[in-house]
Amino acid sequence: MLLHIPQVLSKAEVAEIRQRLDAAGWVDGLQTAGAQAASIKQNRQLAVDSPAFAELSPRIAEALRRHPLFMSAALPKYILPPMFNRYENGGHYGNHIDNAIQVDRFSGRQVRTDVSTTVFLSEPDEYEGGELIAEDSYGCHEVKLAAGDAIVYPSTSLHRVEPVRAGVRIASFLWTQSLVRDAWQRAMLFDLDMTILRLRQQIGDNAEVVALTGHYHKLLQQWAE
Ligand code: NI
Repeated sequence: MLLHIPQVLSKAEVAEIRQRLDAAGWVDGLQTAGAQAASIKQNRQLAVDSPAFAELSPRIAEALRRHPLFMSAALPKYILPPMFNRYENGGHYGNHIDNAIQVDRFSGRQVRTDVSTTVFLSEPDEYEGGELIAEDSYGCHEVKLAAGDAIVYPSTSLHRVEPVRAGVRIASFLWTQSLVRDAWQRAMLFDLDMTILRLRQQIGDNAEVVALTGHYHKLLQQWAE
């Protein structure tokens, strides 16, 4: 399941973050690439030991935690510190699957990557190319969202970023360990949660809606780890 999460950040928040990022120190993205990724990755990343990173990374994580759609879809147990990348001058990242385990460099904790998230910080008309292409069981999806919006997809998906032919594409990306490891179970829970939400809006909390809500929580209790 690929899910579009609208307005994780307001346009004012995006403008403020962009201003901070434009003045920050960027390093070669190869510094965080494994051997296989090194040959296909060409971008820059915000230095993780920079003051800008210390200020902005928690802001992205907090914005996602405030968003009910993200919380319902990702069911986060642990959100790794969001990173920032910058693609320009033909920069790209070829087809790859993200590492299954990442180490949080700040806490030293090993985190299983279940859910990948990209928060777009450039408007689509600021750059040419740069689409995120992600594959799921229904085929290939091309993603290029408004600044402040995010896409969430299983970390097991093959994905790439197309070359940025003109302009600059800035985004934040992060991994989440979910309470529910299996992407299909997470998608089931998300669909059920959204259906209950719409039923509550339509008919209120009658006995059947309360029973369905109980069913959601029993499934979560069975599947969460
Ligand atoms: Ni990736």
